[in-house]
Amino acid sequence: MQICRDRQAMRDCAGSWRRAGGRIALVPTMGALHDGHMSLLAHARDWLDAQGGGRIVTSIFVNPTQFGPNEDLATYPRDEENDLVMLRYAGCDAVFLPSVGDIYRPGAQTVVEVTGLSRMLMGRLRPGHFRGVATVVTKLFNIVGPDAATFGEKDYQQLAVIRQMVADLDVPVQILPVPTVREADGLAMSSRNRRLSSAQRAAAPVLNHALDRAQQMVAEGAGLSAVRAELRRIIGAEPLAHVRSIDIRDAADLSRIAIIRRPVVILLAVRFGDVLLIDQRVAHPK
Ligand code: PAJ
Repeated sequence: MQICRDRQAMRDCAGSWRRAGGRIALVPTMGALHDGHMSLLAHARDWLDAQGGGRIVTSIFVNPTQFGPNEDLATYPRDEENDLVMLRYAGCDAVFLPSVGDIYRPGAQTVVEVTGLSRMLMGRLRPGHFRGVATVVTKLFNIVGPDAATFGEKDYQQLAVIRQMVADLDVPVQILPVPTVREADGLAMSSRNRRLSSAQRAAAPVLNHALDRAQQMVAEGAGLSAVRAELRRIIGAEPLAHVRSIDIRDAADLSRIAIIRRPVVILLAVRFGDVLLIDQRVAHPK
């Protein structure tokens, strides 16, 4: 496994693979890797195999521009040694580990912003977040030059933002969505889970339970307000959970809906102490 610590090393490595005719799949991450990230690598490998083979590049970069001033940039978990062990085991071909100074150079003036999708939902709770994501993902695409890139459905709005950006700007990268990987008790895997106390960790599966129930209600024909009320009731019964937002939107474009006619996505953002957890579920009406 090649380890590339700056842009030039990454460009040289990916360039030589591309000249040899192989495809490249990129797995963008912020590190502190878990089995959810490993599932992205497995999907990347399946895609490459279906194309006749190729190389996986994983990037690990805790991107400062997607964190707000009062967010957890300083305390975001970092564990490079363990990440590298996991990536070797998963058959990753190269890791891109740039420094902040290598990615963001003085004098830069250009950002990438998906105007509509970035301002709603999590974008309202975290102004500037999706601009930071779209900008860094564009830069990673331009440095690595992948044929495809994986993104988790857990970050549903992020996936929607990246798809829109790729379509709007004619970016020649195929986006591969990957279903959410969960712990045995249903909690969606997240690097932030390590920051939960044991009591908060024990309480956190309430998100998945609430989503299971909501999905079932939608399938049985329940209306928007009944589903929303039930989500609030279930999460509200857990004293350590503090609801930041509950949204039920059109699953295709995240637009607001008045009645449930087509598939919807239920989006939760819930705080446990100072850790903000998100989870989502697509639900199909009967
Ligand atoms: P990070 O939170 O490290 O997540 C990296 C990728 O892993 C994202 O595509 C995310 O959706 C996916 N992922 C996280 N938890 C998952 C789970 N339980 N199951 C399946 N996939 C999961 O998302 C980011 O980093 C950053 O915003 C990034 C895209 C790298 C840009 O900085």
